Amino acid sequence: MIRSAIIGTGSYLPEKVLTNFDLEKMVDTSDEWIRQRTGIVERRIAAEDEASSDMGLEAAKRALEDAGVNPLELEAIIVATITPDTLFPSTACVIQGKLGARNAGAFDISAACCGFIYGLAIADGFIRSGMMRTVMVIAAETMSRVTDWTDRTTCVLLGDAAGAAVLRATTEDRGILSSFLGAAGEYADPFLLGMPAGGSRMPATPETVEKRLHFLKMRGREVFKLGVKMMPEAGLKALELAGMTPKDIDLFIPHQANIRIIDAVGERLGIPKEKIYVNIHKYGNTSAATVAVALDEVRRNGIAKEGDNILMVSFGSGMTYAGTVIRL
Ligand code: UT7
Repeated sequence: MIRSAIIGTGSYLPEKVLTNFDLEKMVDTSDEWIRQRTGIVERRIAAEDEASSDMGLEAAKRALEDAGVNPLELEAIIVATITPDTLFPSTACVIQGKLGARNAGAFDISAACCGFIYGLAIADGFIRSGMMRTVMVIAAETMSRVTDWTDRTTCVLLGDAAGAAVLRATTEDRGILSSFLGAAGEYADPFLLGMPAGGSRMPATPETVEKRLHFLKMRGREVFKLGVKMMPEAGLKALELAGMTPKDIDLFIPHQANIRIIDAVGERLGIPKEKIYVNIHKYGNTSAATVAVALDEVRRNGIAKEGDNILMVSFGSGMTYAGTVIRL
């Protein structure tokens, strides 16, 4: 049986750190409120000349180096992002060009915070069908560019980052063991969680700019409730598809949107705290990049070892929800 092994990972965090204390000077908020209500202490912000492809390219190079794979060996580059450099051409094509990966097809996917898990599932499909052998999935988000820095209910939550993984066909019993992709499109409302203007529904006009409709909007409390419900569901589905229960999991990587959501999801799944990976205090919510960066960190800092079963789950705008079980 062919599986998709994760043979390399990489991540990139921009240098600039924005702390809660910095935010206190920008909007009516406090370090105490942000820590208590979200668990976030600081986040990274891209430099002025940095866009999603620049961060994604850096993460991609690190993943290729880690995997010992030449860019010419890649057959597809999938970029998960809701903050592409431009709506078209795709961010994946920009990265493909800069990597010189000219044997790879390249395209972006839009699944918000679930983008990396959706991307892994697509890559796994290409590989398990025998269509491709080596595929790279990148998640790159410059959330700071769609953040309304006058809106305290959202600007304290978001950050910029990129992560990447190289997948290759293997006959060993490791790699992606299951993928569950969910969506609840009845919640596809850009004012619940999304960016209302700039697409074909509401093209850019002086009015849309004036009304600040090119920024992320969110009704936080409603989204919170959906997350607490959807993430455990995605986790249980992914476990079931892998023929596992929460007890079989060595490490749990949940999407990092709010520490209270992470705690609630861990509790509902019955996964003890010491098995839950948390980095929200350092980066905030970096949308699709969150799970990708966390996966790279646990591989590099030795928290995850070869043979470990890792459950990764996410939820986000759409609403999308997704889970995957991988064995390193
Ligand atoms: O990637 C997935 C998408 N995002 C999420 O998963 C986020 C889900 N939602 C959340 O994490 C939480 O709902 C928030 C962190 C956004 C908000 O926390 P909350 O505990 O749900 O607060 P709330 O919206 O119920 O607001 C409580 C109070 C309000 O004041 P009043 O009306 O009680 O006077 C807010 O105006 O807190 C106020 N508030 C703030 N105060 C200080 C909201 N944001 C801030 C802030 N600083 N930054």
